[in-house]
Amino acid sequence: MSLTNEQKAIVQSTLGQVADADQLAARFYDRLFAIDSSTKTLFRGDMAEQRIKLMQTIAVVVANLDDLSTIVPAIQSLGKRHVAYGVTIEHWNSVGSALLWALSDAFGEAFTDEVRDAWATAYGLIAQTAIAAAYPQPEEN
Ligand code: HEM
Repeated sequence: MSLTNEQKAIVQSTLGQVADADQLAARFYDRLFAIDSSTKTLFRGDMAEQRIKLMQTIAVVVANLDDLSTIVPAIQSLGKRHVAYGVTIEHWNSVGSALLWALSDAFGEAFTDEVRDAWATAYGLIAQTAIAAAYPQPEEN
């Protein structure tokens, strides 16, 4: 799985057009808790701060999509830290679904299949990197 240059540009351009990042994050968490209630109790801190942290990290990742290798170490440590928060591999799927839903909700018809595919591929790459670091499989050694 890899991102084409066009997909990188699509993801970067969509994020740049988000009118209200905090609202997007709020809708994302609402959706996450609705589709996977097991994620609810994992969040113990202030959700207003969490929304900011999430969107800031997404912004950094998206800004660096052109050279993923520069952020791979950061994504690997993010994945490992998330194990300590009680996050499972299955939770990564729920977060991906909730993120795509929130984007689609924010952009409406502008969230075409092409845009969805670009985001799904980008998220898939990030999730795969985090998961491989956080839940190492014996056969990968
Ligand atoms: C691209 C994916 C993700 C990004 C960018 C992201 C970002 C962040 C950031 C920046 C933090 C602050 C603490 C830290 O940096 O370690 C955090 C904490 C946290 N994240 Fe994520 N995360 C992602 C995926 C997930 C997933 C899949 C889950 C599963 C439900 C999750 C649940 C949590 C929880 C429970 C915390 C701790 C909250 C607390 O202390 O109350 N995150 N995340």
